[in-house]
Amino acid sequence: MKRRSFLGALGAAGALAARPGGIARAAPAAAMQLRAIPASGERLPVIGMGTSGTFEVGESPADRAPLIEVTRLLLATPNSLIDTAPSYGRAEAVVGDILQGGGWRRQAFIATKISARAGEDARAQWRRSLASLRTDKVDLLQVHNLVDWKQNLAFLRELKAAGQVRYVGITHYVDSAHDALAEIVQSEKLDFVQVNYSVTSRSAERRLLPLCRDRGVAVLVNRAFEDGRLFGQVKGRALPEWAGEIACSSWAQIFLKFVLAEPAVTVVIPATSKPGNMADNLAAGSGAMPDARQRERIAALLG
Ligand SMILES: NC(=O)c1ccc[n+]([C@@H]2O[C@H](COP(=O)([O-])OP(=O)(O)OC[C@H]3O[C@@H](n4cnc5c(N)ncnc54)[C@H](OP(=O)(O)O)[C@@H]3O)[C@@H](O)[C@H]2O)c1
Repeated sequence: MKRRSFLGALGAAGALAARPGGIARAAPAAAMQLRAIPASGERLPVIGMGTSGTFEVGESPADRAPLIEVTRLLLATPNSLIDTAPSYGRAEAVVGDILQGGGWRRQAFIATKISARAGEDARAQWRRSLASLRTDKVDLLQVHNLVDWKQNLAFLRELKAAGQVRYVGITHYVDSAHDALAEIVQSEKLDFVQVNYSVTSRSAERRLLPLCRDRGVAVLVNRAFEDGRLFGQVKGRALPEWAGEIACSSWAQIFLKFVLAEPAVTVVIPATSKPGNMADNLAAGSGAMPDARQRERIAALLG
């Protein structure tokens, strides 16, 4: 995306933000909770952002303006995590354009993935990711869905040793992969695991999350809204009268706080294309978190 187009889209994003009754502003940066990456002690804001689907867009200002605003809101807290992947259509390139256009690269913690077969395919994919993201270094590189995980993990470690990657990890998105993830957490030294976890998909609680805690592995949570399906389950339902006790004013915040209250979780990465929803999600990163009893009350609402 050309600088002029970015500025045009940024102008449109500003107009969106200024619309009366439009976008709520993000909570003040100071209020966002931070959690440490066990491997280093570096602290990350607990609310990050996914890009699957939402960032797979074209170049028009109409496509880009909301995503620029979504990113700006997220990066109001420095070091916020953006998760992307070479297999998410144009998402890496859109992230790269937006970070470059805004001069925001150093404020973002970029996580991307290797999903190609090990060897030359993986190396070529990595070179393309760097070009798309317009950077020479990525904060976290993950083996996507365990593709050729042993050889690809060795490649990731090689990149880490060469200073092109700061942390390495593995990902998956379905419950049936949790045992395989746990075996790898047990046998390998990893910085991060990314896994699906939500109020209605709690399989990770049984073995994987306690193991990550014991082994000092940071946890990224994907699909905290079940790809948005959780909102269908509560459509038309009022929030519980005790939502205020856990500082929640929306269902999205209840779903995100349920995830963040699990002690092994480091960052949750909800995806959104809408600035208003980003502001809503960011608000879940501050204030009281549910205790064990309140978590079970949340789960009972969706049971
Ligand atoms: N194997 C893997 O490594 C893997 C697999 C799956 C996902 N991931 C990562 O995890 C990220 C998150 O997962 P996901 O994108 O599958 O699903 P998700 O975060 O569970 O749900 C995203 C959906 O929720 C909606 N949404 C977001 N905030 C909302 C709010 N406050 N109120 C109402 N609706 C809201 C979004 O729609 P709007 O755009 O309308 O807000 C979008 O349709 C992905 O983007 C990706 O980065 C990784």
